Amino acid sequence: MNIAMVASEINPLAKSGGLADVVFSLSREYRKKGNKVICVMPFYKSIDTCKYKVKHLGTYEVDVGWRRQEADIYKARISNIDFYLIGDYYYFGRDGLYGYDDDGERFAFFAIAARNLFGFIDFTPDIVHVHDWQAAIIPCLLKEQSKNDPRFASTHTVLTIHNPAFKGMLDPHFLGDFFNLPMDLYEDGSVRFEDRFSTLKAGIYYADKITTVSPTHRAELLTEEGSQGLCSVLAFRKDDFTGIVNGVDEAEFNPRKDLFIPLRYGLKNMAEGKAAARASLIQKCGLKDNGGPVFGMVSRLTYQKGVDLLLSSAKFSLSRGAMLFVLGSGEAHLEWGLEQLRQQFPEQVGIYIGYSAERAHEIYAASDFFLMPSLFEPCGIGQIIAEAYGALPVARATGGIVDTVIDYNGENADVATGILFKDYDEGGLCYGMYQAEVLYHNEKAFRLMQHNAMKANHSWKDSAELYLGVYRELLARN
Ligand code: GLC
Repeated sequence: MNIAMVASEINPLAKSGGLADVVFSLSREYRKKGNKVICVMPFYKSIDTCKYKVKHLGTYEVDVGWRRQEADIYKARISNIDFYLIGDYYYFGRDGLYGYDDDGERFAFFAIAARNLFGFIDFTPDIVHVHDWQAAIIPCLLKEQSKNDPRFASTHTVLTIHNPAFKGMLDPHFLGDFFNLPMDLYEDGSVRFEDRFSTLKAGIYYADKITTVSPTHRAELLTEEGSQGLCSVLAFRKDDFTGIVNGVDEAEFNPRKDLFIPLRYGLKNMAEGKAAARASLIQKCGLKDNGGPVFGMVSRLTYQKGVDLLLSSAKFSLSRGAMLFVLGSGEAHLEWGLEQLRQQFPEQVGIYIGYSAERAHEIYAASDFFLMPSLFEPCGIGQIIAEAYGALPVARATGGIVDTVIDYNGENADVATGILFKDYDEGGLCYGMYQAEVLYHNEKAFRLMQHNAMKANHSWKDSAELYLGVYRELLARN
């Protein structure tokens, strides 16, 4: 199969969240199974062109509404996959990936140029798989503008929703001024969402298949409360909508081979390995070990991740002797709140604002429990990695967390892998952390659960097979 993956960030070239990991891991699985895969993403300034031997391939013109702009195409080959990078210095020669006033325009250019890339590199895709709002308009462009192009005669499209909170909400004039699409698509509702033009809605309407990143989140997206407004449009596409859970890259996150942690460990020496990681992290952060349970959190610090809950709940566990390590960056008031918590409990709390792979791995290894009090979580990757390191998730029962953590009910320590709570409020997280403290003192059950967690299978193999099943179903339609 010829598969094109189109996304705004793909590992290892650019990453701000789980999306980058997912697209790269999936692409590698497809490649291993003998498919031809290309990855298409923007050429950001931050990309390390020397390390990845990025070469300039050529330039073509892109019609962006009434204007004509040049797309500079770069290429790199990573893990036997061809990466095509769409460059325009004005749009992508900036310090960050997102967060600019003209993001809508930047990714409009990206999407149009990505659709035009196939002719330029002479690639005839069987599947164009687009991810999130930045690429979600491509199925619409293919159907409305390229349907007579023989290159796409047997092309099918798939949209994966990683984060429904971002819908690519644009002024309706974008339809004509940027995409050269008729206003009718807005008038008849195909691309309209809450009186704006939404690229995500357009993707849901036009893609041949839609997926999201866990079965539970699929179910949530079909309900009024859990769908962030998308339930009616998704209900319309229900039969073509699947939930497939993410995996983790087992080569990157494996305590048996991890070079970042002081003592590598498997099931047999888990207790020693985790004790060494704990001692080293406590020492590095200048804290004092009081023997209490260690809670860890590695996360973007945004409202979605429940950091506000942590700020109000953690003090109860901390005052009973727990320890806490947090790594991440994001909203300033949450970063500041964490710093205040550290000042309140200076011997028990370690905060690292920013990102460091080394520090993240150390936290996974040192933690007894991993906090994920998310408001919503389409899949979540942290809890899966934590399990691999024997850090039991203490997490809110939402989205993919439900599909990847087996909740402890006091009697099922032989199968459980973590502790789930339901309510998104201070009481919910306090309850979860308190259950964790009780479990920590029940050594037999605690160790058993750590073993279950480390043994859980979260490889990409099965999920990649499910995605390929979705593709095959489409190819069979021809
Ligand atoms: C988004 C979601 C997260 C998911 C990731 C990768 O970041 O918020 O839950 O794991 O995408 O699919």
